[in-house]
Amino acid sequence: MFGDAHTFYFLFLLFHSSHGDVSFSFPEEMQRGSVIGNLAKDLGLEASALSGRKARINADGSGKRYCDLNARSGELIVADRIDREVLCGNKASCILKQEVVLENPLELHRINLHIQDVNDNAPLFKDDLIDLEIRESAVKGARFVIEEAHDADVGQNSVQQYLLKKNDNFVLSVGGNTVELVLDKELDREKESEMNLLLTALDGGSPRRSGTVVIHVTVLDANDNSPVFSQAVYKASLPENSPPDTIVINVRATDADEGVNGDVTYDFGHVSGNIISVFSISPVTGEIKVTGVTDFEEKASYEMRVEAKDGLGLTSYAKVIIDITDVNDNAPVINLKSLAYPVAENVSPGTEVGIINVQDRDSEKNGQVRCSIEQNVPFKLVPSIKNYYSLVTTEQLDRELVSDYNITISATDEGSPPLSSSKSVLLSVADINDNPPVFEEQSYSAYVSENNKAGCTLCSVSAQDPDWRQNGTVIYSLLPSEVNGASVSSYVSVNGDTGVIHAVRSFDYEHLRSFQVHVMARDNGSPPLSSNVSVSVFISDVNDNSPQILYPSPEGNSFMTELVPKAAHGGSVVSKVIAVDATDPGLFTIGLHSGEIRTQRDISESDSMKQNLIVAVKDNGQPPLSATCSMYLLISDNLAEVPELKEISYDDKNSKLTSYLIIALVSVSTFFLTFIIIVLGVRFCRRRKPRLLFDGAVAIPGAYLPPNYADVDGTGTLRSTYNYDAYLTTGSRTSDFKFVSSYNDNTLPADQTLRKSPSDFDEIFGDIQGSPEV
Ligand SMILES: *[C@@H]1O[C@H](CO)[C@@H](O)[C@H](O)[C@H]1NC(C)=O
Ligand SMILES: *[C@@H]1O[C@H](CO)[C@@H](O)[C@H](O)[C@H]1NC(C)=O
Ligand SMILES: *[C@@H]1O[C@H](CO)[C@@H](O)[C@H](O)[C@H]1NC(C)=O
Repeated sequence: MFGDAHTFYFLFLLFHSSHGDVSFSFPEEMQRGSVIGNLAKDLGLEASALSGRKARINADGSGKRYCDLNARSGELIVADRIDREVLCGNKASCILKQEVVLENPLELHRINLHIQDVNDNAPLFKDDLIDLEIRESAVKGARFVIEEAHDADVGQNSVQQYLLKKNDNFVLSVGGNTVELVLDKELDREKESEMNLLLTALDGGSPRRSGTVVIHVTVLDANDNSPVFSQAVYKASLPENSPPDTIVINVRATDADEGVNGDVTYDFGHVSGNIISVFSISPVTGEIKVTGVTDFEEKASYEMRVEAKDGLGLTSYAKVIIDITDVNDNAPVINLKSLAYPVAENVSPGTEVGIINVQDRDSEKNGQVRCSIEQNVPFKLVPSIKNYYSLVTTEQLDRELVSDYNITISATDEGSPPLSSSKSVLLSVADINDNPPVFEEQSYSAYVSENNKAGCTLCSVSAQDPDWRQNGTVIYSLLPSEVNGASVSSYVSVNGDTGVIHAVRSFDYEHLRSFQVHVMARDNGSPPLSSNVSVSVFISDVNDNSPQILYPSPEGNSFMTELVPKAAHGGSVVSKVIAVDATDPGLFTIGLHSGEIRTQRDISESDSMKQNLIVAVKDNGQPPLSATCSMYLLISDNLAEVPELKEISYDDKNSKLTSYLIIALVSVSTFFLTFIIIVLGVRFCRRRKPRLLFDGAVAIPGAYLPPNYADVDGTGTLRSTYNYDAYLTTGSRTSDFKFVSSYNDNTLPADQTLRKSPSDFDEIFGDIQGSPEV
């Protein structure tokens, strides 16, 4: 157009002779061929003249023709598209200049074509979408410029107005050429992180055209939010001894901010070291896990602060309480608090001998303990004050039966599964001297041959005492008693430790056939207990004496005739031979070689006044020969006490005895038959002594009977003393004694033994003094 103006100016100077300008005004964008105006009429020419004069339109310098001339009608028509916006841009008036050239004569006319704007363009934003990023921290009133819309049209047809679709946050401010969004209400990314605003631009044409743009507002985050825990207090419970990595609880905090501002990391707040060693928290997930050992008995609850922190350091806190729950992980522990040691065996049932304490560190049921003794022992547990038990005896103890108890006490708690433990309590029972020694046998018998050596072992007794140590140590001793009037200790002795009984002296069967001693076994307790046993010593005979015939008289010089009745039945006793074999020394002993007769013991009151001794004398020849003699001893201090004492010789006595015997036998034989009938008739039953006299129907004068002649009684013990009494008394009145003159002494010697010098016996033993041997 600028070029066109120059051209026009140049042409104007060149064709100054032209007749004037013609102007036409019409809207842009008319159809080709549309009539702009009648040029011929405006030039004042005939239409036909135009063609005659070869009228034609010259384009402006550029040669672009926009209109044409209809030669026949003289009308100016649109020859090409006329777009005002292309030709004139945003100039307010748009004029196209064309020329009409006529010939004959040459004439030049200027044609001004005023192109009028038509609202054919809508307002247009540069882009369909405007991205706008606004930090949420932007304050109210903040302005954000929006590029304005363009409308190629001009004037009223250009952009006249903007409209913003209603929204919460923004209003529009249009001033001059600027369109601005003004923040009317502050943004909150956490509520609305982006929004679309619709902005419409309107022109003033008719009809109005509009253009829209979407403003996409992205709200940028500001770290305006702290993380927030989902709970202020987290509570969890955890069984004790949970293995590492057990998840206890998951804390969670959220931060409304985004990006770094919303990245929450977790940590413990300020906590003591022992929590750190037991629990850990995952910084990322907030998981609290077990890392160490939890022990309910040590710490039943943990309380800690957890911290949530976002990327820029805003933090918040919550509390975590972890309650540890009890697990039955502690077995009961049994403690022996006191123990009577040892326990005397004589304590009465129900005596407390010990105190037991049981502890279980667990709580509630897990810590409830039952205590018991499973074994069969005479003890029980009696619950005492809390957790204490008394160990009490239930029966009488007996150390000799059970001396030590190994009591197993077991304790079981009530957890599930229950835990238990046991403890051995060793209890000794102390001895009490409650058992006397007990002999192994009820009685003991010892057999010894006569002429034994003094000191030889007779037998041994043994007693057991189950008590302990000295209470069970047995000591043997002889109970004092007398044998034949002498102390038993002069016969036997007992070894106090071993119970072996020794003979103290040599025994003579002819003097002593048996005797009984009592041995006591005593323990060493305090007080001591004892028991005793009888020991019978039987002395067996060694054949050291030849028998001596007493009846019929061994001298053979007396006439012995037995009267046997013709009517005697077979088996009838007709006579009896009496013989003895040695004598019992009893009160007296005789010197083996000297022939001295001595009292063996003290004379007692019970000893018979009259003593009959038979002394046997034996030689050493082959075969040995022997003889006997009888001797009468009168025990008295005064001869006057013996009224019928008379002097007889040894021989006289024998002949007197013989004649007495004959008289007796005759008279007895005479009455024999009559007498036996009487005896049988009354079934007179007597003991041995009478039977001896009557059974045989032979009356043997007592003088012929040996002093120790007697049957063995039921127990086999010779009752020597009785024998002396029986026979010496019966025979004494008719017996003759050769009295030793020196016996006239009124008193016994001071030592109370009857002593005689050997010569005193010469008279009596005169004929056998040569080689006395007993
Ligand atoms: C006691 O009994 C327990 C269990 O029965 C046993 O282990 C212990 O060795 C015993 N103690 C003695 C001293 O016998
Ligand atoms: C013997 O028994 C007594 C009580 O009778 C007792 O005091 C003593 O300790 C016992 N001796 C021993 C060694 O056991
Ligand atoms: C000997 O034992 C018996 C019972 O066995 C008793 O009666 C007697 O008294 C005891 N004697 C002595 C001296 O202990």
